[in-house]
Amino acid sequence: MKKILHVIASPRGEASYSQKLANALIDKLKTEYPGSGILAKNLNREVYEHLQLAHASAFVIAPEKQDAGQAAISLHSNETVAELLDADILVISTPMYNFSIPSSLKAWLDHITRSGLTFRFSAEGPEGLVTGKKIYVAIASGGVYSEGVMKEFDFIEPYLKSVLAFIGLTDINFLRVEGISIPGIQETALEKAISDIKL
Ligand SMILES: Cc1cc2nc3c(=O)[nH]c(=O)nc-3n(C[C@H](O)[C@H](O)[C@H](O)COP(=O)(O)O)c2cc1C
Repeated sequence: MKKILHVIASPRGEASYSQKLANALIDKLKTEYPGSGILAKNLNREVYEHLQLAHASAFVIAPEKQDAGQAAISLHSNETVAELLDADILVISTPMYNFSIPSSLKAWLDHITRSGLTFRFSAEGPEGLVTGKKIYVAIASGGVYSEGVMKEFDFIEPYLKSVLAFIGLTDINFLRVEGISIPGIQETALEKAISDIKL
């Protein structure tokens, strides 16, 4: 039995390919770990603010030293970090927008990458504090990026690998439903992506 946190970035609801792929993955995880609980977090319904001066100022102050205003502006971030720490498995489903992730997902990442809470600096350099979790990232794109001439235009995998590893999340499995704008590929893209799922 596992606690699964599903972070949903696509605004397209049931029509979303990334969400469909993540749902198929979650069905497999539920079969593998009967009784698992899912917390679905739709970033288009629960919107994270872009970091403003107030966030940037508050996030660098340890919680016990924050004043009331700094504590208030950190609340959403603190709750989000707690959700992440509570999960055994993190599933992120995301469209590719302009070769990268949607800004809604970037804003969520900005709220979980917190000095003293999810990473810290020591004499040896940065240390991720969120360990022992399995991560799956389901990516949907109009083009094909896993191989071929467009591979170098994919900024999702390298970025997510780096930022998640920075907070300690290194066990990442990327799943791709790709080529959904390309006739001849789009018809079978989802079926292929689902059959490629490995837990
Ligand atoms: C604003 C926007 C930007 C997009 N940028 C890209 C892109 O850079 N590369 C690509 O292959 N597809 C791009 N697409 C296509 C989406 O990645 C594709 O429709 C995908 O299925 C969306 O994910 P979803 O079905 O989970 O919503 C873009 C779509 C939109 C709406």
